[in-house]
Amino acid sequence: MSNKEKFQVKSVAIIGAGAAGAVTAAAFHAEKYYERIRVIERRESAGGTWIYDADPSPAPPIQPGALPKDVDPPLTIPTNLPSTASPSQQERYSQTPIYNSLTTNVPDIAMSFSDRRFAYGPFAPHYIPRQYIENYFSSHKTDSFLVLGTTLEDLSQIPATEPGGVNRWRLTLRRHDSARNVDVWWEEEFDAVVLATGHYSVPYVPYVKGLASYIQTFPNRVVHSKNYRSPLPYTDRKVLVIGNSASGHDLATELTTTASLPVYQSRRSPSRWDGPSPPPGIAWKPTISEFLPSGSILFSDGSLLTDIDTVIYCTGYQPSFPFWNVHANGREFYDYRAGRLINSYWHTFIWDFPTLGIVGLPRALTFRSFEYQAIALARLWAGRNSKGLPNLAKQEEWERERAERTRREGKKFHDVPWGNGETHEWLGGLFEIAGLGTLKGEGMIPPALGADLVWAIENLKKYPEPGKEVGKEGDSEDEWVLVEGGKDLLAYI
Ligand SMILES: Cc1cc2nc3c(=O)[nH]c(=O)nc-3n(C[C@H](O)[C@H](O)[C@H](O)COP(=O)(O)OP(=O)(O)OC[C@H]3O[C@@H](n4cnc5c(N)ncnc54)[C@H](O)[C@@H]3O)c2cc1C
Ligand SMILES: NC(=O)c1ccc[n+]([C@@H]2O[C@H](COP(=O)([O-])OP(=O)(O)OC[C@H]3O[C@@H](n4cnc5c(N)ncnc54)[C@H](OP(=O)(O)O)[C@@H]3O)[C@@H](O)[C@H]2O)c1
Repeated sequence: MSNKEKFQVKSVAIIGAGAAGAVTAAAFHAEKYYERIRVIERRESAGGTWIYDADPSPAPPIQPGALPKDVDPPLTIPTNLPSTASPSQQERYSQTPIYNSLTTNVPDIAMSFSDRRFAYGPFAPHYIPRQYIENYFSSHKTDSFLVLGTTLEDLSQIPATEPGGVNRWRLTLRRHDSARNVDVWWEEEFDAVVLATGHYSVPYVPYVKGLASYIQTFPNRVVHSKNYRSPLPYTDRKVLVIGNSASGHDLATELTTTASLPVYQSRRSPSRWDGPSPPPGIAWKPTISEFLPSGSILFSDGSLLTDIDTVIYCTGYQPSFPFWNVHANGREFYDYRAGRLINSYWHTFIWDFPTLGIVGLPRALTFRSFEYQAIALARLWAGRNSKGLPNLAKQEEWERERAERTRREGKKFHDVPWGNGETHEWLGGLFEIAGLGTLKGEGMIPPALGADLVWAIENLKKYPEPGKEVGKEGDSEDEWVLVEGGKDLLAYI
């Protein structure tokens, strides 16, 4: 049986119009095979993470240790659709974490898709990728596929009606109609669905002893980096930043320009840009042991901070799939304890739901890797892939072995590092599945991971590494540096 017969996919819903949705729409359109492609996006424009929300909505209450299923649960869906209902007030975390000074941290040659570069680079202000993503839709003539201001609220498999038939998908959608001040609800069916919903929306704050009571006793004192826009509100305040990845580093550094010094930064592990001692204006602290009822904060080395005005948690995000209907689909979609998709293959395919794909979940080479994932899915469901997926037993084995290995090595399942060759292996696998398009020009072709791109990844860094400042390029306004290669790019993304 050919793939075409196996999948019978003619209509595809892509959920999310960020970078992953943009390239997925382009890849499916380029096949000239699909009859109906829709990109469902809850925001009013494409751009995803890169849309800037100058005024983030008031932060929802922080619940230490809570996971998306607690803080971002499904909405109650009206019966008898289509219908209208009073507007949902439930937090949907649709605003983004972009702050005023944010610039990209991956060289543009590697971050942009292969057929178009950013307007400039190597590290551009946040509005450049946003404009780029919007333009990507129009230049690929996929803007007409966009269904904006529309949230996927339920995704349920519709079982095949006859033996040997294929399952389809029922999408329950919600759009706020401002003119009538109602939410409009309706359903649509598709043969296949690609999730491109991103994973930096729902903030994560770890459980720490005493933190929940501290938040109650001192309202507004604890915030998450998602709501940070500029250092000005923190002028002359005593600030403690928790976390030492990109957000923790950027915020702590920027806060030294306004906050009372030193800005304290609690680090669980050193980052690649840390030297032996903290930069001027920053004082390092270890992890927090307890928030005491007095308002003091106790650290794991026994030290105390007694007079902190603001605690900013830069502890990242958790992926959220509130639309996944566990009852209809027979199982959960994501295992939060293990930190991974359930029943996934190659971070892209879902082996018990062959007409469901996901683009953009791995922490890897962002935009460029989305392109390989998108082309592989578009080709597979059109039945034009050059190499088939392995059989189910092999896909299961891949998942099991990866889960065991990453657990053993203390790594995360969906992190795909650069330095150990995993990125090449991963993208190479997608490249082989996709293969070429047709002689008539149908289909996008997975790009080469060329020498210039590899060089940029390994040599252009946004921040100097301690002791590795080999040479600074350009004039004194430039903030990027040229370093000797070899460090793991994953530390940036
Ligand atoms: C602060 C910050 C800085 C970053 N900086 C960089 C960087 O410098 N370089 C880099 O390469 N990467 C960076 N990243 C990673 C960034 O997330 C990726 O570059 C990329 O933009 C992710 O694209 P995506 O399409 O997968 O997800 P997103 O951009 O998050 O897009 C997902 C889209 O899906 C929509 N959506 C979600 N759920 C639903 C639903 N139920 N119904 C309808 N629509 C839905 C969302 O509204 C959103 O528009 C950064 C991330 C953050 C948070
Ligand atoms: N373009 C830019 O310059 C820029 C700026 C900001 C963010 N970003 C991107 O945005 C995404 C999110 O970045 P992020 O920095 O917000 O989150 P993140 O990369 O997920 O980092 C989370 C941080 O929180 C720490 N942490 C997590 N759980 C903890 C716990 N229980 N106790 C103590 N510490 C804990 C982690 O420590 P460990 O390291 O020990 O796990 C890590 O330092 C990334 O892709 C990042 O590259 C980019």
